[in-house]
Amino acid sequence: MAQPDPAAMGKVAVLFGGRSAEREISLRSGGGVLAALQRKGVDAHAFDPADRPMDDLRREGFARAFIALHGRYGEDGTVQGALELLRIPYTGSGVLASAIAMDKVRTKEIWAARGLSTPPSMVLRRGDVLREVPDHLGLPLIMKPPHEGSTLGVSKVLGYSEVNEAFETAARYDDEVLAEEFIEGPELTVAILGAGPQARALPVIEIRAPGGNYDFENKYNTHDTQYLCPAPLAADVTDAVQALALAAYRAIGCEGWGRVDLMLRARDSQPFLLEVNTSPGMTDHSLVPMAARATGLSYEDLVLQVLAGASLKIGGAA
Ligand SMILES: Nc1ncnc2c1ncn2[C@@H]1O[C@H](COP(=O)(O)OP(=O)(O)O)[C@@H](O)[C@H]1O
Ligand SMILES: [Mg+2]
Repeated sequence: MAQPDPAAMGKVAVLFGGRSAEREISLRSGGGVLAALQRKGVDAHAFDPADRPMDDLRREGFARAFIALHGRYGEDGTVQGALELLRIPYTGSGVLASAIAMDKVRTKEIWAARGLSTPPSMVLRRGDVLREVPDHLGLPLIMKPPHEGSTLGVSKVLGYSEVNEAFETAARYDDEVLAEEFIEGPELTVAILGAGPQARALPVIEIRAPGGNYDFENKYNTHDTQYLCPAPLAADVTDAVQALALAAYRAIGCEGWGRVDLMLRARDSQPFLLEVNTSPGMTDHSLVPMAARATGLSYEDLVLQVLAGASLKIGGAA
């Protein structure tokens, strides 16, 4: 692909920080993106939506925005909606895809309707008879809040006696709780660049956390988790995983870039979709940059390419 021209990007706002539970991660992502764009010669500036009104973007003459926010008010369609109203092109998915991807229950409903493989699940609310959950999903099972990220509120339930506590842990974050069949096998993630028919999957990454426990600590604070890229899978399994991830991304209507998380069932190598992240981590040791490097695309060039894809997704007169 031809290198985008840094000078043609105009004045660029890197949106990072924000008000979500993932603010700290966003500070790391945005700091990396800002420095990379500046090294490339882009006129890029930090902009923290927690500190100032979005209107400032237009008043200060920004031509486009790189969204390096995670979680609520950043990855969920709200900031995307504000940028549509301001008519400032932005990176990544639009309002609808961002909002759907933020909700694992609705995301799974769309995947299931398209026949895309995702673990069997139940949606639970306070007052439901929880002891019936293992009868339907088997043991172990997973419980998680449908709207969080970074593994907050996620529990692995080994027996009937643990169901209530896992529900309470997830219910701290959401009114609905998602229970899923536990998929035993390696954890995979697939970065995707582009939109629609042009979207392409990068090499698959396999994540090996200590004891198979890929929690917040192992994601961000320890050095014990191993990342294998490209994942050491048979060629036909790699192809199936990439095709499933790409179909999952397109089904939600994602654009620009994103990352699809999956589990690969060890006993039959069947992949199962967990979620799509529309504003994935973007520090220089995050997973999307790792996958890009495996194709020869440097961190700086990846960031510039994502920026060059910035667009308005809602057309018509405004
Ligand atoms: N159905 C499942 N089977 C096995 N492990 C799971 C399952 N769902 C989630 N996990 C584990 O929990 C982690 C977090 O779950 P995920 O759905 O990706 O939510 P988050 O938005 O918190 O990243 C995954 O990375 C994986 O290690
Ligand atoms: Mg995940």
